[in-house]
Amino acid sequence: METKTIGVAVLGCGAVAQRRHLPEYAANKNAKIEGIFDLNQERAAELAERYDCKVYHSLEEAIGDPAVDAVSVCVPNAYHAEYTIKALNAGKHVLVEKPMATSLEESAKIMEAWRKSGKVLMPDHNQRLVPAYKKAHELLQEGIIGDLLFFQCNFKHSGPEGWSIANSNDTWFFKEDQAGFGVMGDLGVHKVDLIRFLTNSEIKSVFAEELTLDKKFPNGEMINMDDNAICMFTMENGLPGIMHFSWTNYGGKEDNGSIIYGTKGVMKIYGDYEDDIVVEMRDGVQIKYSVGKISTNANQLKSGVIDEFVAAITEQRKPIVTGFDGHQALAVVIAAGESSKKGQWVDIQY
Ligand SMILES: NC(=O)c1ccc[n+]([C@@H]2O[C@H](COP(=O)([O-])OP(=O)(O)OC[C@H]3O[C@@H](n4cnc5c(N)ncnc54)[C@H](O)[C@@H]3O)[C@@H](O)[C@H]2O)c1
Repeated sequence: METKTIGVAVLGCGAVAQRRHLPEYAANKNAKIEGIFDLNQERAAELAERYDCKVYHSLEEAIGDPAVDAVSVCVPNAYHAEYTIKALNAGKHVLVEKPMATSLEESAKIMEAWRKSGKVLMPDHNQRLVPAYKKAHELLQEGIIGDLLFFQCNFKHSGPEGWSIANSNDTWFFKEDQAGFGVMGDLGVHKVDLIRFLTNSEIKSVFAEELTLDKKFPNGEMINMDDNAICMFTMENGLPGIMHFSWTNYGGKEDNGSIIYGTKGVMKIYGDYEDDIVVEMRDGVQIKYSVGKISTNANQLKSGVIDEFVAAITEQRKPIVTGFDGHQALAVVIAAGESSKKGQWVDIQY
């Protein structure tokens, strides 16, 4: 049977659209980029020429285009809910960047629009598609390290200002009204989703310390959001763990690694070894897996997110990560902020 080509509109065409969404749609034989919308119309026009598609002049024009079956929402976080809800209500499938929204109220409204629409809603928690994390999920299900005892995850790089299209400290990532969260919502949300995926359990409670150590606005004043977050978690299945997220890892090499401790051994994923996963068994035996590297800001690899989104639409199935997962991860980010303010453990309100 011939697969229908999915018409796509990309909403917001900054760094993530240019480095992942646009090239990965262009390479997907079941997708066709119909058009691009960005508040910066010059940027949209340049990219529309490169990708041989239309320039839309408003969100309404983009989601009103009958050739469009699906949209990618790649605008700053504060606009995710508005764009996602309007696109779902217009009958479009939505791939929304993370975090899915900036409040639980917004996220609940997204979930309501999603349920009513019957469309695919996929938040871009791309760590589930990263080769070593996919493999780790499989190995953990098989019980390679026995019963899980503890986890330790990191996501640390030198900050979003060099990544964002603004390429300066004047980026929206540092503005609370557009970002909603600092590093916890930017990097933390990825690992929160990942640990839910790896352990098949929800996070029950969090104790977090969110810090602003070094990031500054162009005028030299410190930003008023976290550039580091240190978290302790307890999962609903009782598993404890810690995570550190940082925008001040100026060492050159990004740290996106995780260590999972079990009764039979320890699994190190994207750690200091050459191999992507090394399982150190209790008796000293090492089992190594070379399955594929992880993207860094400096070295972009195919995320696989667009292929998964398009496949979920054409195959009429759930994607590997759904609107429900986006909501759960957001709830943990919000609870971490509350814990840091109160200085105490907080149970997650989903
Ligand atoms: N999944 C990931 O790993 C990942 C990685 C990077 C960024 N992101 C997310 O992608 C989103 C975009 O980030 P980015 O790095 O591309 O930012 P960016 O600053 O590089 O680009 C943002 C773009 O949005 C446009 N824009 C701003 N407000 C708009 C609006 N209201 N309507 C239309 N266009 C608007 C800007 O002109 C700019 O072109 C964010 O939510 C971010 O968290 C996700």
